[in-house]
Amino acid sequence: MLKINNLSKTFYPNSPEEQRIFSDFDLNIERNICTTIIGPNGCGKSTLFNLITGNIPSDAGTIILDGKDISKLPEEERSKDIGKVSQDPSKGVANNLTILENMAISMKKGEDFTLRSLLKNVDEEYIVKKLQEVNLGLENKLTTKVKYLSGGQKQTLALIMAAMKKPKLLLLDEHTAALDPRTSRIIMEKTQDLIHKEKITTIQISHNLRYVIEFSERIIMLQKGKVVLDVMANEITEEELTRLYNENIEKESLNENL
Ligand SMILES: Nc1ncnc2c1ncn2[C@@H]1O[C@H](COP(=O)(O)OP(=O)(O)OP(=O)(O)O)[C@@H](O)[C@H]1O
Ligand SMILES: [Mg+2]
Repeated sequence: MLKINNLSKTFYPNSPEEQRIFSDFDLNIERNICTTIIGPNGCGKSTLFNLITGNIPSDAGTIILDGKDISKLPEEERSKDIGKVSQDPSKGVANNLTILENMAISMKKGEDFTLRSLLKNVDEEYIVKKLQEVNLGLENKLTTKVKYLSGGQKQTLALIMAAMKKPKLLLLDEHTAALDPRTSRIIMEKTQDLIHKEKITTIQISHNLRYVIEFSERIIMLQKGKVVLDVMANEITEEELTRLYNENIEKESLNENL
């Protein structure tokens, strides 16, 4: 479904700050399953997402999505097939617009429209139905500006919007990390309901190893831009994953101190 081959990225090349993030990196992601990427801060997880979306240009390598080479396509073009939700609840939504207007934007994604014509020919019934599905009462606040919503409500809205056009690939970059534990769990559960119901191939990034086991099918651990573990979630326990995670970090810091 997603095939990444020989991907390379170095920030600030040929300068004292040069930082190689990926070098000849390969990754294959299967259709319709939820894969989670874990790994310590700074190991390149978000950079990988940015390279996939085209937010950051790669130095070399190919990215094939559903048989199509997207490596050279601009971010805007890729966004028609790739939905993304990030950690910041204010990033995936337009804060100064209403819930209805935000939903209309996601329904018109890929079309030409102006702010003035945004609500023209918008299927409000469909929007209400989509909002009702997540059961947070968002359908009763259609004309409320999104800036007045809670972080959890915003993230749910961002998620519905990112999945609205059934993207070929959905990227979730720690999308519940800024939420309290209870809301975080609710959004994780709603995410799973949505991606399984709509059959959306998903890659998520998470630091919560319990969620990783519970809410994904495949787990990939990155360390310094390399895959150091690749297992199915039902083949590993939380304890074992935690042990492997800590072992890798310890090994790395040992290497750095040598
Ligand atoms: N646009 C950029 N320009 C320069 N350096 C960058 C850029 N984006 C990321 N980096 C650097 O690349 C490294 C990897 O960053 P990245 O954000 O991918 O890490 P991460 O694995 O997502 O970490 P975290 O778990 O903290 O989110 C970091 O050292 C970061 O400073
Ligand atoms: Mg990150």
